[in-house]
Amino acid sequence: MSPYAHITGWGMAVPERVLTNHDLAQIVDTSDEWILERTGIRERRIASDEQTTASLATDAALKALEMARLNPANLDLIIVATSSPEYIFPATACLVQDRIGANRAGAFDLMAACTGFIFALNIAAQAIRSGDVRSALVIGAETLSRLVDWKDRNTCILFGDGAGAFVLQADPQRGGLLSAVMRSDGSGSDLLSVPGGGSRHPATLETVEQGWHYIQMKGREVFRFATRVMAQATQEAVENAQLTMEDIAIIIPHQANMRIIEAAARSMRVPIDRCYVNIESYGNTSTASIPIAACEAVQNGRLKPGDPVVFVGFGAGLTWGAAVAQWTGPFPGTRPGLPVRYRIYARLRSLLKRLLRRIDALFLWSDD
Ligand code: UT7
Repeated sequence: MSPYAHITGWGMAVPERVLTNHDLAQIVDTSDEWILERTGIRERRIASDEQTTASLATDAALKALEMARLNPANLDLIIVATSSPEYIFPATACLVQDRIGANRAGAFDLMAACTGFIFALNIAAQAIRSGDVRSALVIGAETLSRLVDWKDRNTCILFGDGAGAFVLQADPQRGGLLSAVMRSDGSGSDLLSVPGGGSRHPATLETVEQGWHYIQMKGREVFRFATRVMAQATQEAVENAQLTMEDIAIIIPHQANMRIIEAAARSMRVPIDRCYVNIESYGNTSTASIPIAACEAVQNGRLKPGDPVVFVGFGAGLTWGAAVAQWTGPFPGTRPGLPVRYRIYARLRSLLKRLLRRIDALFLWSDD
């Protein structure tokens, strides 16, 4: 029988720097009242110059591994879902793999915008179910503040930076990820995009002058799409898990706009307090928003071992999806992890490997 993919560790990392609505009102024509009423956001976190998508992802990953008490050397798979990767390539996941010393893990990035974490969770769970992968690390990480036009009040009020991570582990007992729905509709690709810097419009002076390296969004249309798909995906995923909406202890939606979450809760016919909301403090951290909210829900006692939980999101692509899980927690009897030690050891190992590569190039291939 196929094993189940249990969520045994979780961790989050957000920058210390807070940008409030009042701060934003100093740079664009907006107000705290407008932002709060139309979005539910009060403040968001902004990465410092030293912080990047990979550094936030690494911080969240080490906390999740510590929680699961899993040595990174035992990881088979790392997926980083992100829309603000460190580079076009190499994958941000490979940078994380090196920084945590997960020397056995295959690592890649998954790009499905704000739905990325749900897609990544499902792909990792399928890999575990296949039997080839025993332990996986799934991370949602963003530094969208680097892709925001700080003169565009339609977008700069929404986004924030942060990362969240789950550790998934195989076990024959029923639990963990029970079902998932993944959907997309590329006909809406123009509604939310960063048009410049890819192979369609490589970066030139002109693309930079046009601002194509910034997020472009048709907010109202994204809003309408989101309110339509959130309830549909949730209901389908819940049915596929052979549960009913009444069985669900908590819904953790993508934190994009409080009004979207309220509309989705109405369509699902669930009271709004069944949805976990922390948009007020972090804004929209894209694919990091669901794992960050999950970490806080556990911390606040809203999500407990055994609870059936729904994760639901939508985003650019267009993409949308939902996943149903039975929350697990760390497997009993495992030894506590030491993330600081992992970080130092991984750094030394990486430096040594770089040095050996240089020595190889100098001595072994000097005839080329
Ligand atoms: O992860 C997925 C990412 N994207 C989303 O989830 C976006 C979904 N969309 C939204 O959340 C909302 O559409 C927004 C928050 C972006 C905008 O709210 P809205 O209620 O749809 O506003 P609107 O675009 O219909 O604009 C209403 C008015 C306009 O003025 P006029 O034309 O009626 O005079 C805007 O110019 O509000 C104005 N406006 C603002 N006013 C103050 C737009 N942005 C702002 C602002 N401050 N920041």
